[in-house]
Amino acid sequence: TYVVTDNCIRCKYTDCVEVCPVDCFYEGENMLVIHPDECIDCGVCEPECPAEAIKPDTEPGLESWIKLNGDYAKSWPNITVRRDPPEDAKEFDGKPNKLAEFFS
Ligand code: SF4
Ligand code: F3S
Repeated sequence: TYVVTDNCIRCKYTDCVEVCPVDCFYEGENMLVIHPDECIDCGVCEPECPAEAIKPDTEPGLESWIKLNGDYAKSWPNITVRRDPPEDAKEFDGKPNKLAEFFS
């Protein structure tokens, strides 16, 4: 399973949703998540994210993101069509510890 991590927050480029063969991205206010039971582990989305926010869940240190993806994928709406990112997306690209923005 792949997971969306920190740098998606307030970047939300949505290029990832266009390439997923099983449409398993879900959309929140400030970021997307991947449904862990639906992702087929194909890896196609990883290089598509300009913010390099998508990682395989086998990478160390991703426990909190694995939990966050699993939790929110259950209640957020599915997203399959790319949309324009927020106007200030570039300002947030690469900003450390964006989890505080998640709740803003
Ligand atoms: Fe979709 Fe494949 Fe990415 Fe999983 S790894 S979210 S199936 S594109
Ligand atoms: Fe987020 Fe990257 Fe997709 S910034 S919306 S995971 S393309």
